[in-house]
Amino acid sequence: MAGLTSSTIGRKYAMALSAMFLLIFLVMHLSVNMLSVFGEDGPFNAASYFMGYNPAVQFLMQPILIFAVFFHFIMGFILETRNNKARPVKYAVNNGKANSTWMSRNMIISGAVVLAFLALHMYDFWMHEMTYKYVPGEGDPTDMTRFWGELHEKFADPLRVGFYVISFVLLGLHLAHGFQSSFQSIGARHPKYTPVIKTLGNWYSILIPAGFIFIALFHFLTQ
Ligand code: HEM
Repeated sequence: MAGLTSSTIGRKYAMALSAMFLLIFLVMHLSVNMLSVFGEDGPFNAASYFMGYNPAVQFLMQPILIFAVFFHFIMGFILETRNNKARPVKYAVNNGKANSTWMSRNMIISGAVVLAFLALHMYDFWMHEMTYKYVPGEGDPTDMTRFWGELHEKFADPLRVGFYVISFVLLGLHLAHGFQSSFQSIGARHPKYTPVIKTLGNWYSILIPAGFIFIALFHFLTQ
């Protein structure tokens, strides 16, 4: 573990592994939340209750997820700072598109917007959930029907919806580079498979944020 984080290559490798874990999380998170568009009587309440009260999800997967999120952002900032120190003078010839894409040059900016989104998102949902479950007198922990209403209510505020949507667009830009970059960092390079990974990454970085935008707008427009 120490080896993984003490050299630049090790750090990039560990960063890529945390990214891959988060890529899987996003698919699961989108799938559960997509159930909310089937309405209050749809499967969303049962799915959320399972995710919120199953001990394996709560006490095993959730701590791993929280660790992966923190690890990914802290490592991202460390790698960015080291890269800037290693290259104090900007390249003389850095005419944007010719050398690299906007997405690859600005991972730290798109990442910072997603981090700001996560701060609001945790306040919106996670903190509420923790208070509801663990602070006596704050809510009825046996209520299996509350989740859909709580989510729907959050998307009544146009400012929140606007910020969420902008963040999802930036998340898409972050993923557009991050998806294929994580495969490169673990050494998965092959003349045959690299183009497939790139195509998959392009679709992933469009479809996942588009799904989240759809959910946010769906709840806003059906208030
Ligand atoms: C419309 C879009 C989204 C909706 C409706 C939504 C909804 C939710 C809800 C209801 C929870 C609380 C789950 C619980 O603790 O029981 C949650 C937690 C969480 N969300 Fe989202 N989310 C959305 C987008 C995102 C995105 C894009 C990310 C990551 C970039 C994200 C990351 C997280 C994380 C890390 C947690 C805490 C972990 C957990 O307990 O599941 N969410 N979200």
